[in-house]
Amino acid sequence: MRRCLSKLTPRQMGFTNSNSFLVGSKNITTTSNAAQVDQTKPSSVSDMLVDSFGRFHTYLRISLTERCNLRCQYCMPSEGVELTPKPQLLSQSEIVRLAGLFVSSGVNKIRLTGGEPTVRKDIEEICMQLSSLKGLKNLAITTNGITLARKLPKLKECGLDSINISLDTLVPAKFEFLTRRKGHERVMQSIDSAIALGYNPVKVNCVVMRGLNDDEICDFVELTRDKPINVRFIEFMPFDGNVWNVKKLVSYAEMMDKVVKRFPSIKRVQDHPTETAKNFTIDGHCGSVSFITSMTEHFCSGCNRLRLLADGNFKVCLFGPSEVSLRDPIRSGADDETLREIIGAAVKRKKAAHAGMLDIAKTANRPMIHIGG
Ligand code: GTP
Ligand code: 5AD
Ligand code: SF4
Repeated sequence: MRRCLSKLTPRQMGFTNSNSFLVGSKNITTTSNAAQVDQTKPSSVSDMLVDSFGRFHTYLRISLTERCNLRCQYCMPSEGVELTPKPQLLSQSEIVRLAGLFVSSGVNKIRLTGGEPTVRKDIEEICMQLSSLKGLKNLAITTNGITLARKLPKLKECGLDSINISLDTLVPAKFEFLTRRKGHERVMQSIDSAIALGYNPVKVNCVVMRGLNDDEICDFVELTRDKPINVRFIEFMPFDGNVWNVKKLVSYAEMMDKVVKRFPSIKRVQDHPTETAKNFTIDGHCGSVSFITSMTEHFCSGCNRLRLLADGNFKVCLFGPSEVSLRDPIRSGADDETLREIIGAAVKRKKAAHAGMLDIAKTANRPMIHIGG
C-alpha cells in the first residue's frame, strides 16, 4: 500500500515572524524558527541540557565510526582522513552508558551517524540497547544507503525508527564521480526497501553544489510525486578538507526559484521549531520537499542538538570547534555525576549561533566524516 504525505498540514495562520520573498513571479513565505521556539522546558529535561540561551537539548547525534564505504567529495578530503586507532574509539558499552546518561537527563531522540554508521559491526546490538532506553522516543540513522537494504530488516527489529539516506545525484556516472565509488543502484534499492518496510517518510538528503548537481533539483522533486519520501536539499557547508567556496554554494532562494517555476503549487508547511529543515508540499505529490538552509538562513535559535563523536569527544555545535572528551573521564573511573558536570559545563558554553558562513569557512573544524553531520 502506498503511503502519502500529502496529509501534511499546509502552513496555517498564526506565525508572527514570517517574511516573504519573491521567487520568479511567486511570493514565498518563509518563517524564521527563532520566534517559534517554545522555551518552556519539560520537567523531564535536566538543567544539564539547558544552555545559557534557554535552549534545551533533547536530540543527541552519536557518531559510531569514522570509517565510510564511500568517499564523498563534500565530506571526505581527497587525501583521506587519519583514523583514530580502534582502542581510542568508544566501545559499545561506553556508548550505551553515555546514551543512558543523556536519556535519563531528558534526551528523547538519538541519531546514529558516522562516517557510515552501518559499517560498524555491532550496530544491531547498539540499536537494540539504545532503543530499550526508557525515555527514548526516536532512534534514527543517517546513512549513505550502500548496505542498508540488506541490513534494514534486522535494524528495524532492533528498534530503528527513522531513516535519512544521503543521495546527491540520480545519474549513476555522476554518483561515481561525487562519491569516488560505485553504488548508485544500491542506494536506490535501499530507499525502496525502507519504503517497503514502512518507514515514512524516508528522508533523502541531497547536498546541492553548483555545477555538479544543481541541474537535478527538479528531477529530485519529481521523485516525490510517487514515492513517500522527503527530499531535502541541503546548502553546501564548509568543513576542513572539503574545498568549499562560496561560488559552489547554491542558496535556498536560488534552489526555490528553480523549483517554483516547475512546481508552482509548492506550499510551506508548519515546521517544528527545532527542525533543521523548511518543509513544503506540492499538490498531487505523495512525498514532500525541504530545504536545509544552514548557510543563508541558519536555524541556531531553535537548536536542540548535541553530538557525541566516535572518539568520545562531545561537541555542542556542528560548527563550533570546541570539544571535550567524555571518553577520558569514563576511562579514569568518573561516576555519572562527574560526567553530568562536564556535559553541563560544555552545554552552558554553547554559542547563540554559528559564526556565519565566511567565518566558518576560515575556522578550523574537523572534516564532516569525523563529525557525522
Ligand atoms: P532530522 O532529525 O530527520 O530532522 O535530521 P537532521 O536534519 O537533524 O539530520 P541529518 O543527519 O539528516 O542531516 C541533514 C543535514 O542537516 C546535514 O547537512 C547536517 O549536517 C545538517 N544538520 C544536522 N544537524 C545540524 C545542526 O545542528 N546544525 C546545522 N547547522 N546543520 C545541521
Ligand atoms: N554540507 C552539507 N551537508 C553535508 N553532509 C555531509 N557533508 C556536508 C556538507 N559539506 C550531509 C550528508 C549527510 C548528512 C549527515 O550531512 O549528505 O546526509
Ligand atoms: Fe546548532 Fe551550531 Fe547547527 Fe546552529 S550551527 S543549528 S547552534 S549545531
